Parts: sequence; structure tokens; C-alpha cells
Amino acid sequence: MSSIIESLKWRYATKKFDATKKISKENLETLLEGVQLSASSYGLQPYQIFVIEDSEIRQKLKSAAWNQTQLTDASQVVVFANHKSLDEAYVDNYIKNIAETRDMNVEDLHGMADMIKNSTLQMPAEMQNEWAQKQCYLALGFLLNTAAELKIDVCPMEGFSAEEFDNILGLQEKGLHTAVIACVGYRSAEDKYQYATKVRKSTEDLFNFI
Ligand SMILES: Cc1cc2nc3c(=O)[nH]c(=O)nc-3n(C[C@H](O)[C@H](O)[C@H](O)COP(=O)(O)O)c2cc1C
Repeated sequence: MSSIIESLKWRYATKKFDATKKISKENLETLLEGVQLSASSYGLQPYQIFVIEDSEIRQKLKSAAWNQTQLTDASQVVVFANHKSLDEAYVDNYIKNIAETRDMNVEDLHGMADMIKNSTLQMPAEMQNEWAQKQCYLALGFLLNTAAELKIDVCPMEGFSAEEFDNILGLQEKGLHTAVIACVGYRSAEDKYQYATKVRKSTEDLFNFI
């Protein structure tokens, strides 16, 4: 079996973390680099990622997440917060980054800038918000796969009040909104879910070859 499939079979949504185990600085950096390398629409990465260790804040977040113990027992809580809307300056900044990174002239990227602005900034506000949230879910997928390779456990979660999370983390004033979160750390030997057989659609049921 390929090692990636072995890792994906090893991973599961961890319900009970071992609160004594912390992710090393090096592994955390690798995990976050996996998130940084996520694909995103046009490459705009319309989100900010918050890595939360502070125990008082995590206690508050737990209360806003139906008291799920992963919020306080995991090594860190990773919050994927999307920009509710983008503006011209955001896109211009991205174009500047491309120009600097690839040693190009901003002027030569005008066409690309216009194309991105035309398709993203024209969306109604609610659509921009939804589109940016989708990008967060994709970044979450990169985190899940990177973590599996590193043998780091994760519980991806949307069982929380996004409004309360936004208030606790002061996201509203930054134009951000909590899309999805991931608790990361190491499984407790007592977590029975790690021993349960994976339930997935069969190959025949899932894939359609045309
Ligand atoms: C977007 C998303 C949100 C989820 N929210 C929660 C949650 O709030 N609490 C929880 O215990 N598990 C949550 N899960 C875990 C799923 O229940 C789990 O991934 C699914 O049952 C498949 O099991 P597996 O990941 O262990 O293979 C979530 C998973 C995803 C992808």
C-alpha cells in the first residue's frame, strides 16, 4: 500500500486528545507549511489562519463549541477565518507579491489583475463570503493530509458558533469570519474511535467513469 494511503487510513477525526502531548515546534511549522501550500482560487488565499494555544481563550472557544473537549485537550486549535469580502487593494497586494516573487513588472500583470478583479469583486457580498469559506475548507484538507503524513491527529470541526468565535477572537473588526476549525495534537489511547473501521462509500458507489 502506498504510504499516503496508509497515512490516510491511520487518520481519523479525533474525539479525545491526550492533553499531555504537544506538537513540536518543527512539526507545527511543517504542518502550517502544508496549509500555506494549499491551492486557492486564483491563488488569492482569502483567509487568515489563527493558531491558538492560550488556555483562557481556548476555554471560551470550548463553551462556544458545545463544550467539545478537543478545544482544550488538543495541542493547538487552528482557526480558518475567511475574508468576508475583498477589495481592489487586496488584489493589488497579491499582484505585487507575484511581481516580487517572480521578478516581474506589476505593469505586465495588469491583464491578470483586471481578470481577477472582474470575477471576484463583482460577486455580491454574500457570494464573496461563501467563495472565501470554500477556500478555507480546501486549506483544511491540506492540513488534514499533511497532519496524516506527520502522524499528527486532527479533529476537523464545524460544530461551533461562528458568531461567538468571531467575537472571542475579535475577527469582526478585521473583516474576517470563522469558516472552519481544526484541533491538532495526539490521540488519547482511550479514544475508542481510533479502533473503529472506516465507513466510506464503496468504489462503485462513489466513482463514475465516463
Ligand atoms: C467540515 C467537517 C466538520 C466536522 N465537524 C465535527 C465536529 O464538530 N465534531 C466532531 O467531533 N467531528 C467533526 N467532524 C468529523 C467527521 O464526523 C468525520 O470526519 C467523519 O465522520 C468521517 O470520519 P473520519 O474522519 O474519522 O474518517 C467534522 C468533519 C469535517 C470534514
